[in-house]
Amino acid sequence: MKDKPWSGRFSQETDLLVEGFTESVSIDSRLSTQDIDGSMAHARMLREAGLLSEHEAEAIITGLEGIRKDIEEGSFRFDPSLEDVHMNIEVELTKRIGEPGKKLHTARSRNDQVATDFRLYVRERLHEVRGSLKTFMLCLIDKAQMNVDTIIPGMTHLQHAQPVSLGHHLLAYVEMFMRDFDRLQDAARRLNLCPLGSAAFAGTPHAIDRDMTAGELGFDGPCRNSIDGVSDRDFAIEAAFGASLVMMHLSRLAEEVVIWNSKPYSFIELPDAFCTGSSIMPQKKNPDVAELVRGKVGSVYGNLIALLTMMKALPLAYNRDMQEDKKPVIESLDTVKSSLDVMAGLVSGIEANKDAIGRSLKEGFITATDVADYLAEKGVPFREAHRITGGMVSSLAAQGKTFSDLDIEGFRKFSDAFGPDVLSAVTPESSVDRRRSFGGTARDNVRSMVEEARKRVESLEA
Ligand code: ARG
Repeated sequence: MKDKPWSGRFSQETDLLVEGFTESVSIDSRLSTQDIDGSMAHARMLREAGLLSEHEAEAIITGLEGIRKDIEEGSFRFDPSLEDVHMNIEVELTKRIGEPGKKLHTARSRNDQVATDFRLYVRERLHEVRGSLKTFMLCLIDKAQMNVDTIIPGMTHLQHAQPVSLGHHLLAYVEMFMRDFDRLQDAARRLNLCPLGSAAFAGTPHAIDRDMTAGELGFDGPCRNSIDGVSDRDFAIEAAFGASLVMMHLSRLAEEVVIWNSKPYSFIELPDAFCTGSSIMPQKKNPDVAELVRGKVGSVYGNLIALLTMMKALPLAYNRDMQEDKKPVIESLDTVKSSLDVMAGLVSGIEANKDAIGRSLKEGFITATDVADYLAEKGVPFREAHRITGGMVSSLAAQGKTFSDLDIEGFRKFSDAFGPDVLSAVTPESSVDRRRSFGGTARDNVRSMVEEARKRVESLEA
C-alpha cells in the first residue's frame, strides 16, 4: 500500500476517483508561501516551548527553505495523492530531513494550518488589491484634473438632465473606490487574528505559545476561541464581498465607457492599445476591455454566493466542505486586481471629444432646471417656475427649437419675471459654475475637490 501520513487507520488503497475528487493541491498550491511561513513560525515556537531541539528546529527550517526555493523555481512536483499543499510540503520535508520532519505536526492540525495559511493569503492579496485600487484612483484623479473644464450632459434615466464637469463626474467614482478601499482595509484588519494552535479545534495539551506564532506571522494576536479559529470563513466571504463591490463600481464606469464610446455619443476616444478589432468588420475598434470588466462581475458575484452557500448551516467545527473556499476567493481577487489594472490603463488613455460633447449639450433642454431656478431667484415660487419652464420646453420642442433660440422677447412671452440677464444665466457654463453648493459641480469647486481627493488618496496606506 502507498504510504501516506494517515495510512495507519486504512487497509485499502484510496480509490482513484476519490483521490481526484478530494485533492485540493491543484488549487491550494497557490498558498505554498503562506504554508511554509506558517510552518516555520510553528517550528520556532515548538523550539521555544522545548518541544523541538535546536537541531530539529534548524533542520526543519533549512528543509523548508529548500522546498520554498524549489517551488519558486518551479521544480517542485506536487502529488495530488497527498491531497493538499500541507501534506505535500510536510511529506517532502520528511523525505529531505528524516525524523525531525515527523515532529513538525506536533500541536497542530491541518484544520488550524489551512485556516492560518488562508488568512495570510487573503491578507496579502487584499494588500495587493488595495495597491491597484490606489493606483487606479490616482489615474481617475489625473483624468478628472484634465477635464474640470469639460462640460458634459449629466444624465438621470440615461437622459440629458443637467450639465456637469466631467472632472466632477470622474471624482464621483473616486468616492466609491475610496469606500471600497476602506472596506478592504477593514476586512484585512478583522481577519488579522491567528488560528494556529487551535489544532483540530479543541486546542492542544502541549505547552505551546500562541502569542508567539501569532506575532511571528504578523497577526494582532491569536483567535480567542479554538473552535471558531478553525470553523469560520467569514474573512474569506468579506474579501469576496469587497471584491464584488469593487467590480460593481467598475462595471458602472465600464458601462459609461461603452456608452460614451458608442457612435450616437462619441463623447470619448479610447486608446488603440486598450481596444480590440473585429475579425470581419475592418472598421471596428471595440471597447472590449470595458465589456469584459462588465462581464466578469458575474463570476465575482457568483463566487460570493458560492461561499455564502457553502458555509450555510455547516455545523461546527471543521467540515471538508470548507475546502471549497479557496477557488472562489483566489479567482475573485485575481479578477478584481486585473480589472483594476487594465481599467487604470484604459482610463489614462481616454480623450474627451469636445466637439461631440458640445453638440450633445445643445440637445435635451439640459438647462431647464436653470431656467426654473432663475425664475425662483426672481421671486416666482419654485413650483410655479417649474410649471412655466415645462410649458416652455413643450412649446419649443413642438417648434424644433431650444432655449438658445430665444431672445429676451421670446423668454418674456412665457413670464414677465425674465430679465435680460437670463440669456447668460442659462448657458451650460453658467449652469455648472452657479452650482457652488458643497460637493456641487461648479468648476472652482471641482478644482479644489481634485486637490483634496489627491491628498486623501496619496495618503492611503495600502
Ligand atoms: N485541504 C483541506 C482544506 O483546504 C485542509 C485539510 C483538512 N482536512 C481534514 N480532513 N481535516 O480545507
